[in-house]
Amino acid sequence: MNPNAKLALHGGDRVRTAPFTQWPVYGAAEEQRLLEVLHSGKWGRLAGPQVAEFEQRFAAFHGCRHGIAVVNGTVSLRIALMAAGIQANDEVIVPPYTFLATATAVVEANAVPVFADIDLATFNLDPVAVAAAITPRTRAIIVVHMAGQPVELGAILAIAKQHNLVVIEDAAHAHGAIYEGQGVGSVGHLGSFSFQSSKNLTSGEGGIVVTNDDDLAAACRSIQNCGRIAGGLWYEHHVMSANYRLGEFQGAILNAQLDRLEEQTIMRDRNGQYLAARLRQIPGIHPQVRTTATTRHSYHLFLFRIDATAFGAPRAAILQALSAEGIPVSGGYALPLYRQPLFLNRAFGPYLPEIRQSLDYASVRCPNCETICARQGAWLEQSLFLGPQADMDDIARAFEKVHRQRHALTGGAT
Ligand SMILES: Cc1ncc(COP(=O)(O)O)c(C=O)c1O
Repeated sequence: MNPNAKLALHGGDRVRTAPFTQWPVYGAAEEQRLLEVLHSGKWGRLAGPQVAEFEQRFAAFHGCRHGIAVVNGTVSLRIALMAAGIQANDEVIVPPYTFLATATAVVEANAVPVFADIDLATFNLDPVAVAAAITPRTRAIIVVHMAGQPVELGAILAIAKQHNLVVIEDAAHAHGAIYEGQGVGSVGHLGSFSFQSSKNLTSGEGGIVVTNDDDLAAACRSIQNCGRIAGGLWYEHHVMSANYRLGEFQGAILNAQLDRLEEQTIMRDRNGQYLAARLRQIPGIHPQVRTTATTRHSYHLFLFRIDATAFGAPRAAILQALSAEGIPVSGGYALPLYRQPLFLNRAFGPYLPEIRQSLDYASVRCPNCETICARQGAWLEQSLFLGPQADMDDIARAFEKVHRQRHALTGGAT
């Protein structure tokens, strides 16, 4: 490549003109299963075989005996909390660098999210911050396998054991990710996954709770199904609950998508590691550090930090220049969750009525998360990693070009 090539932002040729792999990936298998459901007339979870088959296969894929499919990955977190016996005003430790649902599921269980900072290198919960956040009211920890990289669960489980806490793995990004040889979701007490449209395994919407604990599984199943219990009458309801069941059309799609997941995950992990090695050579670009406990990263996102000073240009300008080169890139979560108006204003609806006035999210400080949100964070999405290695080379060449032409970039803010 011409080292003096002009940035596409300034009228030069784009590094990448061809589209990357489009998401979702689907074909005849999805079509066939959908038609089977259609013609069977068995469209509901309790009538047809698709969701039941998927629950069993997906749970086994992650090393769990039980899977309870639900309508989305927010409800799955809430059901996990309810099954774990979280009560009003209990505290649940969560990271602030995640999608809103990790924390609002706690509020919906009428419990208090307590934010602990993440590690700057891994973007995952820092066990030291978790230990410091524990109080006599702490009952659970929700870890998020951010971007698909498994959290350092050994340290978290040790803290949980010492304080008798439940560990819930929010694995919404981590389909197929493996921690020290074990599927994520099977290491803590309960695992939660989302099948929303952007996720590595999708049916448009959907979610699942997985566990190896028979009692927790029975509790989740009951909550998922209007408080019914195995062997009970149809109109016999035992716990406060609702209908959170997934339908058979989504089960059909999920079964077909699951057949693709292993191959896709291998490809994402291979491409992600290759790109990380290339981008690490560029001053100021710091891809998420892979821990030694990571057997497999699912690369729902390829996360990286931009040190603007070392790179020689502000983050916003770099991202704009990369987009112009044909590389879809995002600055990621712009706010730590505790800075969301919902938390600052304690806009909790009917939840936490007695103690909300005592909750002061405005004074929470998680410096690493703030640095990432405000100045350094960025990501590429999973579907970019489903193509050949040449796609990674194009992404790397775009970064290299933008770095070479960094002096042409302006803008004061990072
Ligand atoms: C980390 C995390 N947890 C939970 C969820 C919630 O999943 P859903 O959108 O299926 O409710 C998401 C969705 O983006 C997520 O990214």
